[in-house]
Amino acid sequence: METVETIPQIRDRIAAWRRQNDRIAFVPTMGNLHAGHLALVSRARELADRVVVSIFVNPLQFGQGEDLDAYPHTPYEDAEKLEQAGVDLLFRPQEAEVYPHGREGVSFVEVPRVSEILCGASRPGHFRGVATVVAKLFNIVQPDLACFGEKDYQQLTVLRRMVEDLNFPITIVGVATMREPDGLAMSSRNGYLTVEERRIAPQLYQSLQAMAERLRRGERDWIHLEQQGEERLARAGLRPDYVSIRRATDLAPPEAADRELVILAAAFLGKARLIDNLLINL
Ligand code: PAJ
Repeated sequence: METVETIPQIRDRIAAWRRQNDRIAFVPTMGNLHAGHLALVSRARELADRVVVSIFVNPLQFGQGEDLDAYPHTPYEDAEKLEQAGVDLLFRPQEAEVYPHGREGVSFVEVPRVSEILCGASRPGHFRGVATVVAKLFNIVQPDLACFGEKDYQQLTVLRRMVEDLNFPITIVGVATMREPDGLAMSSRNGYLTVEERRIAPQLYQSLQAMAERLRRGERDWIHLEQQGEERLARAGLRPDYVSIRRATDLAPPEAADRELVILAAAFLGKARLIDNLLINL
């Protein structure tokens, strides 16, 4: 695996692969890699001749008072894991490479509506930061396809919409959430949990599963189910931000006839803000 830090270097490598007609898959990350990230890499391997991974902790997607400065950096471990996973090229730019004119006044990409609800309501500007950096990375790497985790379901929805609206010639591939044996979705932020909090954390997924079961049994009072989901999280010792049943395609509130739903939840636990979701086909 080769590691490059500059845009001319990565363009150079990609151009050489293009001349051989190689199909190129891209997996953007913020590092501190775990089995969830590596599941994206192995899907990318299956779908393409070359796999490019980026590691960049994007300051634009962190709000005031969020964990930008505390975000875990494990560069040596990350490189080792990517090498083992058969990645061809690691792009690890410095901030000045990505934002040469600083963080202020950057041209940005905004995906309306779907960016403003759920996590977007609690984290204003977050999805604008995500869409902007992913659009830039897409223009730098110019892959045929890019893999993203269903773990961040709203992010996946925002990016699918961006690619459609702006006609990026890139296929977006969603990859199922990787979980710990007790059901907790793998996340770099799980490292913020104390032993006691880690014991409570799987309640998030368990609450989603309980709601899914009730939907399957025919309950359709979304608001009531959502309220009970939040109460259950609070009883377990989490501080729910939201629990919401949405249409899977566009995250709009579901109509009675909708069959493809997603239950999404976010909750604070100690220093961590955990998110999870469950797709359900009625
Ligand atoms: P990061 O949180 O590092 O996640 C990188 C990719 O890994 C995302 O597509 C995310 O959905 C996926 N992922 C994380 N945990 C996962 C799990 N348990 N199972 C499956 N996939 C998982 O998401 C970002 O970085 C950033 O917002 C980024 C897209 C890189 C833009 O800065």
